[in-house]
Amino acid sequence: MLLTLDGEGALYMQVYRSLKQQILAGRLREGERLPASRLLADSLGVSRNVVLQGYDQLKSEGFIVGRVGAGTRVADHLATADVRTGLAAARRRGETVSAVRLTEQANIALAYWQARAQPGTLPTRALDYDFRYGDVEVDPLSARIWRRLSGHLFTHSVHQYGHPQGEPVLREIIAEYAGAGRGCDCDPGQVCIVNGSQQALDILARMFLSPDSQVIVEEPGYPGARTAFQATGATLVPVPVDLAGIKVGQFPDPGSANGLIYVTPSHQFPTGSILSLPRRLALLEWAEQHNRFILEDDYDGEFRYAGRPIPALQGLDPAGRTLYVGTFSKVLFPALRIGYVILPGNLVEPFVGLRWLCDRHTATHQQRVLAAFIREGHYERHLRRMRKRYQGRRRALIDALHQAFGAEIELHGTNAGLHLLVWFREDALAAGESTLIAAARAAGVGVYPVSPLYQRPPGRLGLLFGYGGIPEARIAPGIARLRRVFAALR
Ligand SMILES: Cc1ncc(COP(=O)(O)O)c(C=O)c1O
Repeated sequence: MLLTLDGEGALYMQVYRSLKQQILAGRLREGERLPASRLLADSLGVSRNVVLQGYDQLKSEGFIVGRVGAGTRVADHLATADVRTGLAAARRRGETVSAVRLTEQANIALAYWQARAQPGTLPTRALDYDFRYGDVEVDPLSARIWRRLSGHLFTHSVHQYGHPQGEPVLREIIAEYAGAGRGCDCDPGQVCIVNGSQQALDILARMFLSPDSQVIVEEPGYPGARTAFQATGATLVPVPVDLAGIKVGQFPDPGSANGLIYVTPSHQFPTGSILSLPRRLALLEWAEQHNRFILEDDYDGEFRYAGRPIPALQGLDPAGRTLYVGTFSKVLFPALRIGYVILPGNLVEPFVGLRWLCDRHTATHQQRVLAAFIREGHYERHLRRMRKRYQGRRRALIDALHQAFGAEIELHGTNAGLHLLVWFREDALAAGESTLIAAARAAGVGVYPVSPLYQRPPGRLGLLFGYGGIPEARIAPGIARLRRVFAALR
């Protein structure tokens, strides 16, 4: 029998672990005799005492039986090796407990995750031209600065827990930035730092919603928000979006239900509409009248290429009905997982309580790096550079689409954000949406349908083209290849 010691901790425990593994793996079978302690000690190069102590430990746990001198054997009552190995594998797969009952919330989240994990929604194999929405460009200069700041600030404050509301230095900077850059009206005491906007959506959902709640959402809209709301058991009420944003005039009578209104007013996801001023005012009035809070998701409002960025709804709201959510996922990088919420003062403590329960706080070190990045002016310069770069890509994408598809398409949301919504003429769907997308993938072009963002499918082919992660020079060849794929399917 070949035994090896793992070199970890006391020698007798190494002998014990090694033998136990042999027994559990079925290499030492029930009733089989263990080597004489002296022989084993010699072969392992340890003292006999070490082996005897190891045997004692195995005996006290019931793996072996017998007396020294009279022979030591593997205990009989252990299940056969085959069964044990099978059981271990089943346990690893999580199949040993039958009839697992998950909560409704877990099932909703699971379905969402599994739908996301379908090929074509998460990165799988490298595509020649990937127009996936959600990717961004990592600017090499900003990355270098980030690494430098990160190195300098590492020892700072990592020895203790931070505050769940976030580092005061970052909250102050964000309050200033959201005021000057996004037109929000707030002080640092209203700002809570979160791990990306998704965490804010989840916490706000848990703060306000229950199974008898009603949430007004945009149709089409952002599934990350919808799922967080649905997971609380609340009912979603989709309200259509047109070129002026969500149709506030079509809001249902809420009756006695409580709930939220979820909107992306600066750049509707995914259509790119901007909520018009009359609708903004109507929305605020409706919320006030019906005692609702508005969740404003300002996920990429910084990227506007014509004119100034559209100010946030929050700054227009004198009554404090708006819960503003911002993120650094688009301007900086999504894996950073830093976002923020600006809340009316009386909602900060309940939010902070839930946050503490959930995961304590966002990594304090990263918060400080971000604060320094903004304070030293790198963020502003980064934003200017990225706006220019993305604007170039947007232009290239629009030109390439027009050139390839001409009158067969209709573009939406052309002045802001990091993606375009492209509607194709009715007959483009004849081949079937999934066939078109699969054929494009097979040809090395990643394009993504808008239909999953609808509660009720739109009945025509709409594709989202993200340009955050694809260099400008690759856009035209990618679209030309897509054109060839479409032509071949006709
Ligand atoms: C509408 C909307 N909200 C928020 C986010 C970003 O979420 P996070 O800050 O969690 O990365 C996205 C990104 O895809 C989005 O499309």
